[in-house]
Amino acid sequence: MEGYQEFITNIKKLTGIDLSSYKEKQMKRRIYSLMRRNNLTDLMSYFRLLKQSEKHLREFLNYITINVSEFFRNPAQWQVLEREILPFLIAKGKILRVWSSACASGEEAYSLALIFEKINYNKVEILATDIDSEALEAARLGIYSEKSVENVPEDLKRKYFTVKEGKYAIKEEIKKKVKFKNLNLLEDEFPKNCDLILCRNVMIYFTEEAKDKLYRKFHNSLSDDGVFFVGNTEQILTPQKYGFMSMKSFFYKKLK
Ligand SMILES: C[S@@+](CC[C@H](N)C(=O)[O-])C[C@H]1O[C@@H](n2cnc3c(N)ncnc32)[C@H](O)[C@@H]1O
Repeated sequence: MEGYQEFITNIKKLTGIDLSSYKEKQMKRRIYSLMRRNNLTDLMSYFRLLKQSEKHLREFLNYITINVSEFFRNPAQWQVLEREILPFLIAKGKILRVWSSACASGEEAYSLALIFEKINYNKVEILATDIDSEALEAARLGIYSEKSVENVPEDLKRKYFTVKEGKYAIKEEIKKKVKFKNLNLLEDEFPKNCDLILCRNVMIYFTEEAKDKLYRKFHNSLSDDGVFFVGNTEQILTPQKYGFMSMKSFFYKKLK
């Protein structure tokens, strides 16, 4: 596939997504099939199409990254969560309702469960939802690659996973802390009274209009002083517009 490296560089500039972190063969096969769908035969023309058409760019992003996740994705943010956000939420002294709203195959939701184990706090209910039923099946199964658990601290890895033939199976005691459910963010009603909502690495697929609607829905779903945790490329430009106040980068508190 001629010009692949250049394509990768261009996509990185355009979307912030680094395709070089994806399996090259699989990626090329996917890109090729998308190009064929659009009657194109070379990568330069395909990139031009992506640059011009939001619809095609979304089709592309959806196709290539839809279920990519990992435990403790962007570890620095999880440290902020553990050290600063959770103590703030725990001080409320109530059972915490936590929602991982685009949970893919469960990595994010189980990361939450692991953190609560680590800090020995069990007054918590974790709901994890996604639009993709296959991903949810994988989440319920809870078996992961070595790469996907790379950021799990060694002690937690030893304690809460069983390793078999190079795969990491999360133990039942963690599994049972998370309830998985199918939910389409764009269509379905949201759960209420959440103290912490994670919506990470999915907003990037949505139009400005859809995002605007979703921020309002998330705000509505939070309890007073509830916290909204977003992905590393998904900072909200005007949080006040949606009734949020920035607490730390990527964390927003609901204003009363
Ligand atoms: C890249 S993964 C993000 C997983 C995880 N939150 C993370 O940050 O690692 C994006 C997820 O969003 C889900 N998704 C896409 N559109 C959705 C929608 N309309 N409603 C709910 N989930 C959606 C996909 O199925 C996919 O599992």
